[in-house]
This record gives sequence, C-alpha cells and structure tokens, in this order.
Amino acid sequence: MSNVTVIGTQWGDEGKGKIVDWLASRADIVVRFQGGHNAGHTLVVGDQTYKLSLLPSGLVRGKTGVIGNGVVVDPEAFLAEVERVTAQGLTVSPETLWVADNAALILPVHVATDRAREAARGDRKIGTTGRGIGPAYEDKVARRAIRLCDLAEEETLDWKLDELLLHHNTLLAGLGAPTFTKQALKDHIARLAPRILPYGCTAWARLDEARRSGARILFEGAQAVMLDVDHGTYPFVTSSNTVAAVAASGSGVGPAHVGFVLGIAKAYCTRVGEGPFPSELFDVNGTTLGQRGHEFGTNTGRPRRCGWFDAVLVRQAVKVGGVNGIALTKLDVLDGFDEIKICTGYTLDGAAVSVFPSSPAAQKRVKPVFETIQGWKETTFGARSWADLPAQAIKYIRRIEELIEAPVTLLSTSPERDDTILMRDPFED
Ligand code: GDP
Ligand code: IMO
Ligand code: MG
Repeated sequence: MSNVTVIGTQWGDEGKGKIVDWLASRADIVVRFQGGHNAGHTLVVGDQTYKLSLLPSGLVRGKTGVIGNGVVVDPEAFLAEVERVTAQGLTVSPETLWVADNAALILPVHVATDRAREAARGDRKIGTTGRGIGPAYEDKVARRAIRLCDLAEEETLDWKLDELLLHHNTLLAGLGAPTFTKQALKDHIARLAPRILPYGCTAWARLDEARRSGARILFEGAQAVMLDVDHGTYPFVTSSNTVAAVAASGSGVGPAHVGFVLGIAKAYCTRVGEGPFPSELFDVNGTTLGQRGHEFGTNTGRPRRCGWFDAVLVRQAVKVGGVNGIALTKLDVLDGFDEIKICTGYTLDGAAVSVFPSSPAAQKRVKPVFETIQGWKETTFGARSWADLPAQAIKYIRRIEELIEAPVTLLSTSPERDDTILMRDPFED
C-alpha cells in the first residue's frame, strides 16, 4: 500500500486540486510541501466550489491537512482562507490542520519587495502572483526568515525583525518604494500570532507517527515542473522546487515515502505569466481553448495563455519529476475540434531538437513541430467510463502515452469531482 504524490507537469493549473480531492477519499492525510498561496486549486463538489490557495485540498473531504516545512506561509492569507472555508461549512481546527512550526513566513515586506521588483523589471517582468513568494524563499535560504515557531518568542522575533528590515528596507528604498517600520511589522505579527500559533506543531513527528500506524498520505504539489526553479523555464519560474522529491524534504518524511508519483497534465497546455511557451496559439484555436476551458487564473483572474499539448515538455517533466503515471485532465475541452495538434519536437535554428534547451534565449527561439490528429464530434464532457469515450479520443490518449513515455492512469472529463475515470489506482501500486 503506497502513498501518492501529485505534481503538475506543465505550467500549473492542470487540475491538481480536483484530482487531489478525488484521491483524498482513499487517503488519511493530505500534505502541502512547497509553494505558498501563489497556488490556486479549484474543487467542484455538487453546487459548492472551493478555491484553495494554501490549505491542502483534503480538508474538503474532512481529512487531516498538513502544511509542511517546505511551504512559505503568509499568516494573514492562512487565517483568511481558514475563515473562508469555514464559512463554506468545513471544519478546520488545530486537530485537523497541522502547520509545521519550522515553515518560513511571508510578511508584508515580502509582498512589497516582490511587487517593487516586478515593477522595476518593466518589460522583463516575470509576471509573479505578487504574493511575496520569491522574497520569502530568498530569505529562507539567506537564513534570515522568520519562521512560525519564532512568533512565540519575543526576543528572537526582535532581532530577526532587525535583520529582515535591514535587508528589505535597503532594497525598497533603492527601488523608490515605501519602507517599513519595525513597529508596523510588530503590530502585524501581534494581530495574527495568537490565531495562527495554535496550528503550529512538529509536523514531521506527527507525520512519522501517523505513517507508522498505517495512515495513507497524499502529497499535494503546487505549481508544476515547468515552473520548478531548477527544471523549469528559468527565470520565468516560481521560487521552489516542484518535483516529487520535494514531497519528502518539504514535509520531513524520508524519500522512500513519496510513493506513486502521479503527474497531472491538461489535454492541451496553458501558462499564466510571462515566459517561453513553444506550442502557444495566437489564433482562433487558442481563443476556443481559453473559452471552453474557462482559462482564467484562480487567484488573480489573469487570462491564461493557451496552446496545444507539448509532449516534449511533459516527457521532460515525467523524467525529472519521477512521474509513474499521468492524470490527463480537461479532455472534454477538446470536444468538437476538427483537428487537434500535439507538439512532438522542436527545431532550433533549423536543427531538430528533442529536449527543451536550458538557455532562455534558446527557449525563446525554439519552433514547435506539430503532429495533427483528427478530432472527435462526440462529447466526452462528464464521461465516467472508458467505454463512453469516442475512438478518436482514445487514439489521442494512446498517442500521448507513447510520446511522453508514461501511462495515463486517470482521466478527468469535467470540473466535477466524480467525472473522473480511474484506470489504475495509484494507492494500490
Ligand atoms: P490546479 O492549480 O492544478 O489545481 O488547477 P486549477 O484549479 O487552478 O485550474 C483547473 C481548472 O479546471 C479549475 O477551474 C477546475 O475546476 C477545472 N477542471 C479540472 N478538471 C477539469 C476537467 O477535466 N474538465 C474541465 N472542463 N475542467 C476541469
Ligand atoms: P497552481 O498550484 C500557475 C506562476 C506565476 C508566475 C510565476 C512566478 O495553481 O498550479 P510566483 O508568484 O510564484 O513567484 O510567480 O509562477 N505561478 C503559477 N502559475 N499556477 C500556479 O499554481 C502558479 N503559481 C505560480 O504566474 O508566472
Ligand atoms: Mg491553479
């Protein structure tokens, strides 16, 4: 009996939240291990829609949720989200939601630095979510982060705030942005600390105990491999590693407990924010994908750029992410196209290449090579069994499997929780 780790294989928004929610019925604990509230995971259950950014999707099923040490936690966003889902009828308490007390915090200085830097970049902006994610991870690596456990210790907090402000105020002043006073940050923290501290705990120890007593753990990735700080389209990436290996280090379990790695891929491709996107469409097909797929950012409402399925990138994500099987989502969005294309390779300055190059200049110059597949007229929307799928849709899935060198083990055919087809149970692998 294995654990399962879910990761995105494209540029995010593949439907990880829906799949995690669906799989959570088979799990006891759902763990977020990287990223922060830059994520936006949408779950549709009957007439309720849940939009989660920081909280693990398993809470919707009443499962224990864990925010691991690898996550950067904005206390204000955390408490607001707890309040929001509570108003939607979920029960969230320190018994059902554990936050690693060694997780680094996002404070208003991080948000200010993120935004000021993006503004200063002008045309070369990354298109971040503006939520302070990058600066918070930088502070963690630079050993000046304030962590959840520090909120309980006034003395520690005092000198840590000095160090944090020295860094950020210098930067903000240089960028011509307003700086922060120590008192303002102290007030911010004083307002939130008593409410978030009860959730703090030694999460790794609780996970260890739960695992040893037989609990099944589902690790919920945020973002995706093409946004991974090492393996993605650097510098147009997020500031964490998003590959499955991080489920272990980002929650404090050993690498043997990551279990089956389920990569999530859309049946086409989207990206929000700046950066290279070889199979991007600027024609009516792109508009159709965007409209049918409701491709607007969950958090920011920004329209997502749309393109055909890029098999080169997903194959790369399968390999560097350690993916054992793929959940292919939003197949229904392709219903009714006369022809569907798959990017099977690139040319770079006229020469064929079969991997995405590392250099940003080369990433910008690659041209996609497309293979055309006949579409299908029947609807797959809401299909719940393989037998309900048109032959051409099955052909499309089989071709994708061949190109990405991984099996499609799960299919999703609508936003609704139960419109899902299971071919192979990842917990049984
Ligand atoms: P995540 O960030 O990977 O969790 O994905 P998001 O929730 O940001 O974006 C995926 C969107 O597609 C959400 O609005 C989902 O409700 C929706 N969705 C998920 N799976 C399907 C599917 O199979 N078909 C359709 N039409 N929509 C889906
Ligand atoms: P989920 O979990 C899509 C993108 C941002 C930007 C880049 C860096 O919903 O799939 P950041 O604020 O992280 O420094 O921004 O990463 N980005 C996402 N795009 N889905 C996400 O999460 C994303 N999280 C960050 O748009 O291009
Ligand atoms: Mg999302």
